[in-house]
Amino acid sequence: MSQSTRYRRSGAIAACVIGAGVLTLIGTEVLGISLRGGDRGTGSGTQQQLPTTMEDFFQPGTQPDPSGEIVQPIIHSNNCVACHGQYLLDEKVPSYAEAWDGWINSIKGHTARDPIWKAAVAIANQDAAGAGEYCIRCHVPRGWLAGRSETGLVEDLDDLDFDGVNCHFCHRVVNPVLTKDSPKEDGPILAALDFPPTGAPGNARWVLDPNDVRRGPFDDVPLNMHGEADIIFSPFHLESAMCGT
Ligand code: HEC
Ligand code: HEC
Ligand code: HEC
Repeated sequence: MSQSTRYRRSGAIAACVIGAGVLTLIGTEVLGISLRGGDRGTGSGTQQQLPTTMEDFFQPGTQPDPSGEIVQPIIHSNNCVACHGQYLLDEKVPSYAEAWDGWINSIKGHTARDPIWKAAVAIANQDAAGAGEYCIRCHVPRGWLAGRSETGLVEDLDDLDFDGVNCHFCHRVVNPVLTKDSPKEDGPILAALDFPPTGAPGNARWVLDPNDVRRGPFDDVPLNMHGEADIIFSPFHLESAMCGT
């Protein structure tokens, strides 16, 4: 696609979005529904909000641990960038060969920052009280694990949570289904869960290694450079099922 075609296309998309916004406003005026003046997160105007609570969005798997004593908190990608990013200085080499550079530009790096996501969460909360809790579980695992999703509001997250689906989350994820290839650490981790997702994994029922153990695709790393954190080979990280976590 040539540059000019691309600009024309994005211009057309912008025009459609603005047009749709204007139509929505006209439509809501005609229907007598107010988009303004209501509490964000509690519904507004004539809209009926489902009286749901956090329990309605409960999922098995690892549960929030605000104390950080049972499950170690998820740390920010700033702790990884020094070694896993920005080392290929030749601009001709695609930088997505580096884990950090590829990630920061990806949809995974934007799961919590994306304004469309924030808007969608606000709408979900208006439709069903606290529904944002479920969105945050997938989109902002760091904040969810620390217990900052109880109201379902994006406003309750802290600055570092906007790291989204980050390095430390993905590389601590455990296969919820025990297989003959599972690392030996996985059996006790799954057995210790109060709500194991075995039988019906997926849909954000993720299981996190309670310790800072980084799982990856290599079984031959000659030197662990992660300080006190261990690294282990995880066949799960080579399977598409990992993406369905
Ligand atoms: C959405 C989950 C996810 C996120 C987020 C993620 N990774 Fe990975 N990463 C994987 C998977 C899965 C593999 C194995 C892919 C393969 O080898 O085919 C992998 C591979 C790796 C590897 C080994 C292969 C290589 O390229 O050297 C390293 C190191 C790594 N990731 C570090 C990171 C760092 C650092 C970040 C954050 C900047 C990060 N990852 C973010 C899932 C993730
Ligand atoms: C089970 C995990 C999971 C849950 C729960 C979840 N999402 Fe997502 N969401 C994803 C994934 C994965 C993508 C990326 C999809 C893709 O690239 O095709 C995504 C993408 C999105 C996008 C598109 C982002 C963009 O800019 O393209 C929006 C908006 C969104 N989600 C909103 C929500 C809302 C609102 C909720 C809660 C009602 C929610 N999500 C719950 C996993 C989840
Ligand atoms: C001091 C440098 C350093 C820092 C900081 C660092 N790593 Fe690494 N990491 C390495 C090196 C070196 C390797 C081995 C890469 C190789 O052999 O290609 C590695 C490998 C990995 C692997 C692959 C392990 C395997 O067995 O497959 C993962 C996963 C990983 N790092 C995750 C992370 C995460 C997540 C962070 C941040 C929380 C991080 N690393 C921070 C240096 C570092």
